[in-house]
Amino acid sequence: MRDFSLLQAGGRREKALSLYFLSFYDRLEERMEPTPSPQSGPVTLQITLQGKVCHVQEDNLIWIFQEMGLIRFSNKFCWNGECKNCTVSFKLGPEGETVTERACRTPAQEGMIITEMPSPFYKKL
Ligand code: FES
Repeated sequence: MRDFSLLQAGGRREKALSLYFLSFYDRLEERMEPTPSPQSGPVTLQITLQGKVCHVQEDNLIWIFQEMGLIRFSNKFCWNGECKNCTVSFKLGPEGETVTERACRTPAQEGMIITEMPSPFYKKL
C-alpha cells in the first residue's frame, strides 16, 4: 500500500517530486519479475523441528528457519557456510544416523528430524 501523505502535505515542488517517484516506482514494478520467497510456493516436505511436525517447501534449512521466525540474530549468520553458527543436528527418519551439518548448506529432506539447534542462535517454536 502506498503512502500518499506527501502529496497532500507538501508544496508544489514536493508534489511534483512525489509524482515523479511514484511514476518511477510504477515503471520499475512493471519491469520486475515477481521473486518468490523461499516459503511462497506449495508445501512439499514434512520435517520435525523441535519435536513438532512442520510442512515446509524445499529449501536449505536456514531459509526455512528464517521464514518460520526461528533465527535469533540474523547478523550472526554468514549465510554462506563460513561462520558455522547455523550448525544443526538431524536424522533422516527415526532410525537414521545423527548428522551434524551447517543449516545454510543443508537442503530440507522429507522425514528429516532436527534434533539440535544451538539455542544462542535459534528461537523456540
Ligand atoms: S550461516 Fe554461517 S555457516 Fe551457515
